[in-house]
Amino acid sequence: MPNSVPTTTSSATPVDDPGAPRFLASDNTSGICPEAMEYLVQANQVDDLAYGNDRWTAKASDRFRELFETDCEVFFVFNGTAANSLALASTCQSYHSVICHQLAHIETDECGGPEFFSNGSKLLTVAGDNGRVTPERIATTVTRRGDIHYPRPRAVSLTQATEVGTVYALDELHAIHDVADQHGLRIHMDGARFANACAGLDASPADLTWRAGVDVLCFSGTKNGLGFGEAVIFFDRELAEDFGYRCKQAGQLASKMRFLSAPWLGLLESGAWLSNAQHANAMARRLAAGVEALDGVRLMFPVQANSVFLELAPATQQALRDSHWTFYTFIGEGGARFVCSWNTTPALIDSLIEDLRQALRS
Ligand SMILES: Cc1ncc(COP(=O)(O)O)c(C=O)c1O
Repeated sequence: MPNSVPTTTSSATPVDDPGAPRFLASDNTSGICPEAMEYLVQANQVDDLAYGNDRWTAKASDRFRELFETDCEVFFVFNGTAANSLALASTCQSYHSVICHQLAHIETDECGGPEFFSNGSKLLTVAGDNGRVTPERIATTVTRRGDIHYPRPRAVSLTQATEVGTVYALDELHAIHDVADQHGLRIHMDGARFANACAGLDASPADLTWRAGVDVLCFSGTKNGLGFGEAVIFFDRELAEDFGYRCKQAGQLASKMRFLSAPWLGLLESGAWLSNAQHANAMARRLAAGVEALDGVRLMFPVQANSVFLELAPATQQALRDSHWTFYTFIGEGGARFVCSWNTTPALIDSLIEDLRQALRS
């Protein structure tokens, strides 16, 4: 790809405005990274075919096949809720169920989308430390009932990295795969922060997915530096049968598909998919290291990807809000969640640490 088009960068740090919000609430507050923007601009130079028949989409799909070292089926949709819902629908009949963690986004934050798009497949939630589903909990859930009155377990959904910023290590994935195989369960992976997990574990996309039994991955581009767009990647190609129709019916078939796929190509060809995640993870570790020793702050979970959850007194939270910090307190098990992104600067993290110190002093 030619490199001559002007690129656009975006900054997480407000410029010259002390009253501006300071964004660490989520990795979807960040802008589009230069590599994605460059390819978006390139895709706009010449017309191309619609509905995914364009060169950009074909090329991006091939790059995914190279990245995952296998001949997977690739689809591009607009957002994570649709990716998860439609991917799960392709693994289940309406009378099936999906085992997931009780904090899973598909359970708590998708407005019933997974059940809706599968015409009723029920989510069976399980507890688990640090946001992780365990093989034991899966086994207990599957074997609890086997009668006709119970929605038959058909899939396990894992979020990698988890909703609380931890990751499933390779041995944990393999242990889950063993149990899933024993009970005929498919494995869906919500990869809203899949790149962060690859970076955090220093593991290959192939090792973290199909080599560990994952049948379908929803890989988020939005949280990795795109403006919008997720890739649904089927390692079991049979599950992908008719998936295009599901996308169309659900309003997820982009007619100008190249504007969804070309930015992905930017991430994949430049390697930014990984460097963006590595940077975000490093910023999260910087934050954790800067606050873990402070009195009045407790790190709620190990920091293994790009999110940091802090237990803070209400007055401390308020002081941070008064200093214009944005963060969520309703995710996971509560606490203040700070999420770093491809464009989070060390200076932003350091100013949060300093403001937190001051809030605790007062
Ligand atoms: C774990 C997880 N899964 C999926 C999503 C995708 O959500 P959306 O439909 O907003 O793109 C998110 C976004 O916050 C998430 O955190």
